[in-house]
Amino acid sequence: MIKKHTGLHFSFKYTLVFLAFLAFNGLLAQQVTIPISSEAFTMLLQTDEDKLLKTVYFGESLVNESEYATVSDMYHFKDNNIGIGNATYTPAGTWNLSEPAIQVIHADGNTSLDLRYESHTTTLLEDNIRLTSILLKDPVYAFQVTLLYKVFIKENVIEQWTEIKHNEKKKVTLQKFSSANLYFTQKDFYLTTYHNQWAKEMQHNTAKLTRGIRSVDSKLGARAMLLQSPNFILSFDQQASEKEGMVILGQLAWSGNFKLEFEVDSYDNLRFIAGINPYASEYSLAKDTVFKTPSFIYAISNNGTGEASRNLHSWARKFRVLDGEGERLTLLNNWEATYFDFDEDKISALFKDAKDLGVDLFLLDDGWFGNKYPRNSDKSGLGDWQENVKKLPHGIGYLVKEAKKEGVKFGIWIEPEMVNPKSELYEKHLDWVIRQPERPEVYFRNQLVLDLSNPEVQDFVFGIVDKLFIENPELAFIKWDCNSVIYNAHSTYLEGKDLPQSHLYIEYVQGLYKVLERVREKYPKVPIMLCSGGGGRGDYELLKYFTEFWPSDDTDPLERIFMQWDYSYFFPSIVTDNHVTNWGKQSVKYKVDVASMGKLGFDIFASELEPKELLFCKEAIGNYHSFKDVVWHGDLFRLMNPYKNESAALMYVTTDKSKAIVFNYLVNNRVSFHTNIEPVKLDGLDTTKQYRVKELNLYPGSTSSIDTARIYSGDFLMKIGINPNINLRRTSVVLEVTEVKN
Ligand code: GLA
Repeated sequence: MIKKHTGLHFSFKYTLVFLAFLAFNGLLAQQVTIPISSEAFTMLLQTDEDKLLKTVYFGESLVNESEYATVSDMYHFKDNNIGIGNATYTPAGTWNLSEPAIQVIHADGNTSLDLRYESHTTTLLEDNIRLTSILLKDPVYAFQVTLLYKVFIKENVIEQWTEIKHNEKKKVTLQKFSSANLYFTQKDFYLTTYHNQWAKEMQHNTAKLTRGIRSVDSKLGARAMLLQSPNFILSFDQQASEKEGMVILGQLAWSGNFKLEFEVDSYDNLRFIAGINPYASEYSLAKDTVFKTPSFIYAISNNGTGEASRNLHSWARKFRVLDGEGERLTLLNNWEATYFDFDEDKISALFKDAKDLGVDLFLLDDGWFGNKYPRNSDKSGLGDWQENVKKLPHGIGYLVKEAKKEGVKFGIWIEPEMVNPKSELYEKHLDWVIRQPERPEVYFRNQLVLDLSNPEVQDFVFGIVDKLFIENPELAFIKWDCNSVIYNAHSTYLEGKDLPQSHLYIEYVQGLYKVLERVREKYPKVPIMLCSGGGGRGDYELLKYFTEFWPSDDTDPLERIFMQWDYSYFFPSIVTDNHVTNWGKQSVKYKVDVASMGKLGFDIFASELEPKELLFCKEAIGNYHSFKDVVWHGDLFRLMNPYKNESAALMYVTTDKSKAIVFNYLVNNRVSFHTNIEPVKLDGLDTTKQYRVKELNLYPGSTSSIDTARIYSGDFLMKIGINPNINLRRTSVVLEVTEVKN
């Protein structure tokens, strides 16, 4: 198919006359070309003769930088009829009639916006990080937008956002204020998006984009990803594959309402706009105040999703996730073991289990607080963060000490942004609760959301964490949960301050970030797990403050193989917490093997395990400690896709290619499946190195069919592979591949 880009065509003669006219007026000389370049990719921005900034190319970088100025000559983008689809940041109300990236009402009520290029700077922040800042101004109104592009050169990752400011006499209303507005001219576009529900996170959906706008959004306020996720895979010209083709892995790093719009335009090109969801969120911006949009973050690769993921993971570990290159704590959690039904003795007994298993930490989950309204179910107590004196008469401090006696660290669950109507907090501070004063309350898990736009509420939430650490300096871990969406969005605080209610969704999230800034200023290192009734909140803005997140309450290991596969496109294993629980009918070995592909934890009564099972767990935890570094910090290669095969395989390899861990699982329990016929081809090894393959996590009493005496070249393991011999009696196999030095 031939693409038509334009409506206007000049004959050669007229073109010459036109160019001469432009040159005479010195206009050609003013054309500014701005390459936003990583190692392999360039997004090329260029002004036209009217100083409109346009995206004229998005693809592989050119060898000769000087040739960028000529790229746009090869396209015919200008069109007088419908506006300019490839504007780099499309305003509303003047020449543009397509979906805008920004829409405003000026102080005088005028609704027109035009943005023209003013200036730009490019600075090398570090060896590998380049920041380009482009200033656009409205020629009529004192209104400006700065586009910022932070390029992580080696990783081919771009983080971009927008800063909006004005100097008009009164406030300006921002109706739409996107983070990114991209334009692609490749041939076909395939989009994978992720749809969620409780315990059913990351269900992917892939479709070829057709004309019109496809949007993915959230209007939930908090726990924003409960139904749809701001992550996506976009592939060009062909469906995304692991090793081939141009792909983008993108995410809007915003923990509230988001909107991603993919529009195949009349030229069959793709316009992409991402940002905070404008839904019920008109923002009234005061003079000389900067409105900074969230970041849109994306990794680009020409070699498929495998390379894009590895680059994104490496970016996340190095530049984004709190302590991304550090260590994590293995743990035993009591949630599924006890739910709300525990006391001091029951919990103390679990410290011994944690020690027996060989994990680093014990995590006390929900149910430890509330006195007037004890937290004995999810119906009451949320908001009253005092130890329940019946369950824990000697307080948290006692538990921290008891755990320490067993050589185990202690962590605790909180859900500080929420309140049950059955709580002292609700009775005392109804004004802190997000609710419509004149309407019946609507609950999600019997609770309501506190109004984080209110600085007093921010202090309260910070105070919960602060008090825990002040009283228990040895507290080693926190699980920060967020189980509810926002219904009846209304803030008493904003009303009192005469601020628009439409600020609530945004200021809620900004308030949350302010609290987390304070937490991290005072407690920079303590690991904190991000949880949102499962995976309602894994995003790269929150992960600046958190060391890890809880992908789902669904811990059935078979389900987790699929879910973790999908999460793995976007997140490195070091940030995903996987627990062994009673979900699923698979063997303990299968469960532990699956949970080992991330940060390993347990949520069981170890004392209820069969002796062999306990022995296996202990050995497997020991093994995990020996290879966790490879899983946490190594490169991930997805080898066999569980959606397309009867077994799944993936591996992690150290950067020096000296060690790898390969996970293999049977994902089809139909009796027709006998055994792996073909070997699994490994990846990421050094063709010239020699390796030994050993099976780990053998169940007590069983023997391995893997011959450890044999030595294989990396070349062999990658071209022929190794057969893990998966079958109905051998449903999960963990292999350690180690370099053999001469
Ligand atoms: C949420 C979390 C669970 C657990 C419960 C406690 O559902 O996802 O892991 O912490 O809350 O109420």
